[in-house]
Amino acid sequence: MTSIECRPGGPVAGTIRVPGDKSISHRSIILSSIAEGESLISGFLEGEDSLNTLRAFQSMGVSIERDADRVRVQGVGLHGLIKPAGVLEMGNSGTAMRLLLGLLAGQAFDATLAGDESLSKRPMNRVIEPLEAMNAIIDSQPGGMAPLRVHGQSRLTAINYRMPIASAQVKSCLLLAGLYAQGTSTISQPDPTRDHTERMLRGFGCEVATDGPDISIRGGQSLTACDIEIPADISSAAFFLVAASIAPESDLTLQHVGINPTRTGVIDILNLMGADIVLLDEREIGGEPIADIRVRSAALKGIKIPQSLVPLAIDEFPALFIAAACASGETELSGAEELRVKESDRIQVMADGLGSLGIQVEPTPGGIKIQGGTMGGGVVETHGDHRIAMAFSVASLRAKEAISIRDCANVNTSFPGFVDLARQVGIRVTSHG
Ligand code: S3P
Repeated sequence: MTSIECRPGGPVAGTIRVPGDKSISHRSIILSSIAEGESLISGFLEGEDSLNTLRAFQSMGVSIERDADRVRVQGVGLHGLIKPAGVLEMGNSGTAMRLLLGLLAGQAFDATLAGDESLSKRPMNRVIEPLEAMNAIIDSQPGGMAPLRVHGQSRLTAINYRMPIASAQVKSCLLLAGLYAQGTSTISQPDPTRDHTERMLRGFGCEVATDGPDISIRGGQSLTACDIEIPADISSAAFFLVAASIAPESDLTLQHVGINPTRTGVIDILNLMGADIVLLDEREIGGEPIADIRVRSAALKGIKIPQSLVPLAIDEFPALFIAAACASGETELSGAEELRVKESDRIQVMADGLGSLGIQVEPTPGGIKIQGGTMGGGVVETHGDHRIAMAFSVASLRAKEAISIRDCANVNTSFPGFVDLARQVGIRVTSHG
């Protein structure tokens, strides 16, 4: 799929279930691989990112069988992984690369992690530096970029680390390394970030202590296999939350969505903008809260996005910027510098795309100001970023003319079947190439 062509559409209606949570899918493979015994995973995301993690563990000797979204993993135990024959290809996935780096730092063998063009430009010093403080030996490219070679002969020591940025990837990387270190490691986060690693480690019988901002793990604990049911990804649901909010006369229900409080910033922000979102049948599965989410159209208004919600909605800003373009008045985001080092520079790429559709935007170093207005049509460049492609597909619901979105193949990294599902609910998109 090289491009997505969109015509103005809507309303958005129906009941759908988006694919499995990407963050939880990565973690399910990592932890079940190093557990003792067989784990059965259901609801696994069949996207390129999580499949890269799956293939990496197969190449480290773990027997993993997959039938669509059901995965059976024969765990090899904490010290049972073997040296992979080749380079571990992480594709577009920052999560896979950073989490695996932490795990590999504690192995007895050397391994190399590589990524695509985008991933090879993303900052890895944020994980390399604390891992080196734990005695890991890592070779990187200038500026701390991938490919990364991890030397496996080191004996890791525990760390007390205050993260300079709120990052679940850094936290999870260090918790995985901490599992292989001598002593107890404590990671302190400046703001809450997604806690799937902590929850899942506990599900595998591992003790992880949380004390306010501090998370501690004792090295050498073994994990016991368990079954994992993965909820639908709120980050994928976000595109439909915005779609049904902005398209007049919409009424859409999203089933079985993960509503872990460290991920629901998108709902809080949309509600502050005046959205009509209702959580139904809230329940808990495998240590993660889930719900069905009903969303109906609403007249959105611009807001100043509260700082505290930024890390809790970090992947949802491309979709939220579309909501802002359709809202009355100005929406202002600040304190979101991290958006510049995601799969693309999401502040600049979204500003360029919105600008080309006639929306007034003012990017700043750590955010953006967006004036709600009328969107025309045009051509949008995604720079290979899946979430940019999906955000502008949703924008077409309120555009006056057709939108042509370029470079969309990476939609498959997080949301295979996006175009079909979007069409099913009334978004007039077609994929080409
Ligand atoms: C993720 C954490 C977030 C997020 C990414 C997935 C994870 O990154 O942007 O898509 O699964 O831990 P940071 O923790 O670096 O902000």
